[in-house]
Amino acid sequence: MIKVLVKGYGTIGKRGAWALRRQSDLTLYGVVKRRPDYSAILAVKSGIDVYVPGEEELRAFEESGVRVAGLLDDALGRVDAVVDATPGGVGRKYKGLYVKHGVKAVFQGGEAPDVAQVSFNPLCNYSEALGKDFIRVVSCNTTALLRLICSLNRYFTVDRVRAVIVRRGADPKEVRRGPINAIVLNPPKLPSHHGVDVKTVLPWLDIQTAAFAVPTTLMHTHFIQVFLKEGVTREDVVRVLEGSPRIVLVGAEALGVSSTAELAEVIRDMGRARGDMYELAVWEESVTVIDGREVMLTQSVHQESIVVPENVDALRAALSIEKDGERSINITDTALGLVGGWLLWSS
Ligand SMILES: NC(=O)c1ccc[n+]([C@@H]2O[C@H](COP(=O)([O-])OP(=O)(O)OC[C@H]3O[C@@H](n4cnc5c(N)ncnc54)[C@H](OP(=O)(O)O)[C@@H]3O)[C@@H](O)[C@H]2O)c1
Repeated sequence: MIKVLVKGYGTIGKRGAWALRRQSDLTLYGVVKRRPDYSAILAVKSGIDVYVPGEEELRAFEESGVRVAGLLDDALGRVDAVVDATPGGVGRKYKGLYVKHGVKAVFQGGEAPDVAQVSFNPLCNYSEALGKDFIRVVSCNTTALLRLICSLNRYFTVDRVRAVIVRRGADPKEVRRGPINAIVLNPPKLPSHHGVDVKTVLPWLDIQTAAFAVPTTLMHTHFIQVFLKEGVTREDVVRVLEGSPRIVLVGAEALGVSSTAELAEVIRDMGRARGDMYELAVWEESVTVIDGREVMLTQSVHQESIVVPENVDALRAALSIEKDGERSINITDTALGLVGGWLLWSS
């Protein structure tokens, strides 16, 4: 069994650890925490071994009475791979340690692209990541854009993309970043970095994005125009989205929802752990085709969880456990219980 350590047990790390415990070909070896806070206590209570980066943190854990399994350096000697889910820029500082121990590492979108050999989305470039030592799973907004673009590009030929990204101001637990009472130009100078980040995976694509941060913590929402080289109908586009993994169509009228707040409530009512929505939600009524070649739509993105399935696939690619991207996606999604097709109207 392949052993994986999750370093950084915050928004992404704890979800990554949860997802790893549900895979049959990967096993969670433990997690790395600096502070013996509620997350560390709950991790220990749920049977997860908690490691600490150094002696100082070890003393803090011992003083607070939270059980600690050992030091990061010891754990790295016993695992095959690390998911580094520390804040942007921190992962890079630990890269030397991963090299020293010869473990593969999956970094997150907050790191600069050159931290890894490949920026990754399994629907776009799984084979490029096979056997790589360092893979970067792009951020939540970039993952959402890539899922849509690569799903459409599988059946049609995407020529160029324009997108407006309405970003959540902060995650629900981030008391230091909110609330804001503004629509923040993010940034004022166009384009925003999101399109640039998409190009780390699809360098050939003509894409421009603008982004605005708004006072919400639940989800991001994108308005997207995809220009195609061939003519298609709305039905063609809906059929492709219906059949694409990690995308779910949300019928606003059928479900009686037309906001991220109501969508989040549907997901909580579905009993999803932490209220997580791994799927990209495409609002079905928004799907519009103009003159056959311009597809417009609106999609919503649960920022706290959308990259979790991608992290699992990145591990399978790095460790070459599964050579075929579609099969990896299928294994991950079955284990995590993702739905496809229409939300609440498909299996
Ligand atoms: N949150 C999102 O919506 C989101 C979505 C997609 C991608 N990402 C990316 O995922 C990465 C992690 O983000 P996050 O939101 O999960 O962060 P987070 O909730 O703030 O969690 C970060 C974790 O890293 C640990 N940490 C902080 N500084 C550290 C250091 N110097 N050394 C070792 N550990 C350290 C913290 O440990 P302690 O608690 O022990 O101090 C915490 O558990 C970032 O690259 C981010 O850009 C985030």
